[in-house]
Amino acid sequence: MDLHDWLGRAVSAIEGWEASFAPFDRHPSLHISDERFAAAFDGFAGRLRDNYPYFHPSYAGQMLKPPHPAAVAGYLAAMLINPNNHALDGGPATSAMEKEAVAQLAAMFGLRTHLGHLTSSGTIANLEALYVARELHRGRGIAYSADAHYTHARMCGVLGVPGTAVEVDEVGRLDLGALDALLARGRIGTVVATAGTTGLGAIDPVHGVLAVARRHGVRVHVDAAYGGFFTLLAGADGPAGLDPAPWRAIAECDSVVVDPHKHGLQPYGCGAVLFRDPAVGRFYSHDSPYTYFTSGELHLGEISLECSRAGAAAAALWLTFQLLPPRPDGLGQVLAAGRRAALDWSRMLARSGRLRLYQRPELDIVCYFPATTPASLAAIDRASARMLADGMKDPAHPVFLSTLTVDAGAFARRHAGAAADAARARILRSVLMKPESESYLEQLHARVEELAG
Ligand SMILES: Cc1ncc(COP(=O)(O)O)c(C=O)c1O
Repeated sequence: MDLHDWLGRAVSAIEGWEASFAPFDRHPSLHISDERFAAAFDGFAGRLRDNYPYFHPSYAGQMLKPPHPAAVAGYLAAMLINPNNHALDGGPATSAMEKEAVAQLAAMFGLRTHLGHLTSSGTIANLEALYVARELHRGRGIAYSADAHYTHARMCGVLGVPGTAVEVDEVGRLDLGALDALLARGRIGTVVATAGTTGLGAIDPVHGVLAVARRHGVRVHVDAAYGGFFTLLAGADGPAGLDPAPWRAIAECDSVVVDPHKHGLQPYGCGAVLFRDPAVGRFYSHDSPYTYFTSGELHLGEISLECSRAGAAAAALWLTFQLLPPRPDGLGQVLAAGRRAALDWSRMLARSGRLRLYQRPELDIVCYFPATTPASLAAIDRASARMLADGMKDPAHPVFLSTLTVDAGAFARRHAGAAADAARARILRSVLMKPESESYLEQLHARVEELAG
């Protein structure tokens, strides 16, 4: 896709539609000469250079990459209209696209019924799921693993619900024995299982969580903000294939969150929450005397906590799904490449004399640390921080990593040999979410080994 061409075509498509309405004069207060704009734009483009190269496979740090060009063209075209998917009055076409794209997400998880919508982020999507959890189990708390995203503890605070962190096992998955013991006390109404933790990419045993929770009459919400699209690799042939059990269980859980702005090739501003029981829509009921006037059909604002939302986000996702649908033979192929890269790299790290693999990657996040002398947490922490900084500032061959802070106990469960001379240590973490990481791996590994010294 040549974005130069397609951005022009996107503008023409909307101008063509605008031309079908009666002409009118644009107000002079909005007029900007090309000359003035050029000056401002030059300065602006210069400012944007102060960025890390998220597009490049040498950027192997956080969950960041540019959207697919199809999403960019779709977003731009719709943004020129600027529909608001709060109500059908604000964005009829993009509201229909949102419902279709959300139905595709529901089908991806195998949900037989669903009520859902896009959100501006995974945080807001999880907030909505926890809000419904609170309404359904007033007076009872919410449990999540100690490695769950910080948003769960924080949103429990926002919602005024007691939140409880459950311990994790030796690879960072929610511990079912500890969960069972907690639920037996009867004070928890909902458990959050994370399908792909933010730090390590660990997959909580959603099927096991579901079985334990149901025995105690407790609901299950799945936070698959980062990992959700990996369900496309559940049971797949080849090295990228994943154990299907946790992924298949999502269809029986009560709600699930997935972020198209992470692994769905979308620009930021695109999370999603889906509920298995459409009847939870009643918790969103509100009066809005100034909207919902064009149709008796469902307006997305009637089932969402946010009011204004970008119709362009739905347009971009819908258009992307036309080309790379959330199916194993579509988007699944993009995720498979990153997953293979993570597995291949983990094998290279396991053979390395200068680097150590922290634990085997479950998705596309690889965590590792320099082999220091002495082998101690303080030395590993210092060396990891140095590698991060040195990698970024190398003018000739920069490489961009991220760090993960792990506590001494978690470290010792995986690597008993290191002296625990600090309470915690930073290790290195790379999210290989660009499919190009697969062919770039040799270079990446060589560069990171070099940095380890
Ligand atoms: C598992 C998980 N949940 C929630 C979030 C928060 O999502 P967002 O950054 O879109 O608000 C993240 C972000 O990385 C995540 O990995």
